[in-house]
Amino acid sequence: MEPLTRRIQRDIEQVGRFTKPGPGINRLSFTAEHMAAVDYVRRELGAVGYEMRVTPHGSFRFRKAGCDWSKPAVVSGSHLDAVPNGGRFDGVVGVVAAVEVARLLAQQPCRVPYEVIVFSEEEGSRFGGVLTGSKAAIGLLRREQAAQLRDAGNTSLLQAVESSGADTTDWDRAIFRPGDVEAYFEVHIEQSVVLEEKGFTVGVVTGITGIKQYKVRLTGVANHAGATPMPPRHDSLATAAECILAIESIARQAPGASAVGTVGYLVNSPNVTNVIPGETFFSVDLRDLDMDSLESISASVVSRIRETAERRGVAADIKLSGEARAVLLPDRTRIALLEAARAAGVRFMEMPSGAGHDANLMALVTDVGMLFVPSVGGRSHCPEELTSYEDIAAGTDVLYRAIKTLVC
Ligand code: HGY
Ligand code: MN
Ligand code: MN
Repeated sequence: MEPLTRRIQRDIEQVGRFTKPGPGINRLSFTAEHMAAVDYVRRELGAVGYEMRVTPHGSFRFRKAGCDWSKPAVVSGSHLDAVPNGGRFDGVVGVVAAVEVARLLAQQPCRVPYEVIVFSEEEGSRFGGVLTGSKAAIGLLRREQAAQLRDAGNTSLLQAVESSGADTTDWDRAIFRPGDVEAYFEVHIEQSVVLEEKGFTVGVVTGITGIKQYKVRLTGVANHAGATPMPPRHDSLATAAECILAIESIARQAPGASAVGTVGYLVNSPNVTNVIPGETFFSVDLRDLDMDSLESISASVVSRIRETAERRGVAADIKLSGEARAVLLPDRTRIALLEAARAAGVRFMEMPSGAGHDANLMALVTDVGMLFVPSVGGRSHCPEELTSYEDIAAGTDVLYRAIKTLVC
């Protein structure tokens, strides 16, 4: 096995050790396992002379010790937090690839600084936002908002960041504003089937989907399941069921091929066999590469939930809980990756991203390039998530070639 592939395998296997018991990877932001994974990256980069700085938002930046931190750098990285029962590769591949580029650049004179970044709370699995760490990094999530976002144990994002040792005093001063970053590159698993089905090793991303997430609370009337006749019922779960199927059909019938709608989280109460549900809470996740289409399907979903609830005599409380704009990736970084893939001699194609990434937010302050490597069976966000170390090494080589043209 090539030394590069062996290093990639070692890094991914080492990071995979930092998890709560399974199934799959369980590594929420700012937990002991998350901090242990970050510390592994810190040690690996320390071995090639990099120092770490923790941002006021609890993300982790790494540059060569003694460098000028005020100089715009070419930045690469991703995230190490995972969805519950997640996979070993989502986010980790981007961090490991960025670490490897630091190793490969270590002995070369760089005219532009190179920086590795690990964004925290990308998945939103602990505090419920969307791409929270990178949103805060560019100044789109304020300190008082971080104090409002709470996890299942009622700990706020702000408290969790502070407990991880970050100094949050300057939270509201963005660390990345336009002009602060030379370019941002992220390698990521594709999380779908296209590369595998078409037989390509690398996907150069052309655009990244927009996201709108909502939290819906339906309040009906809990009552006796046997003694209450059907017509006068105000069943919150039956109302939710009608809404969920409506969300699916709105996404299916949307004009754009990239529209998707998902209800992934639902809590029903009192959740008892012989009681008509009185309160049902569920999440809505809507996406589209086309922002006009995303706005239109979001408006249709919200009005459909309201109309369904009203017809069934159920109160509906609908809150927008997170969003990220769709972004098209600029020629400069996209062409740098295409030329690097050509020079690397890998089979590559251009493609959009249906998943959201920290690159969505970094694209608002700098030129962004994104690279996919194949997901076996298209699976992700599950223990079955798998990408071959050889494909990750090939993606890393393309990333290195592209970044080298910009920093050396
Ligand atoms: O939801 C997403 O697209 C990403 O996995 N955070
Ligand atoms: Mn990810
Ligand atoms: Mn993910």
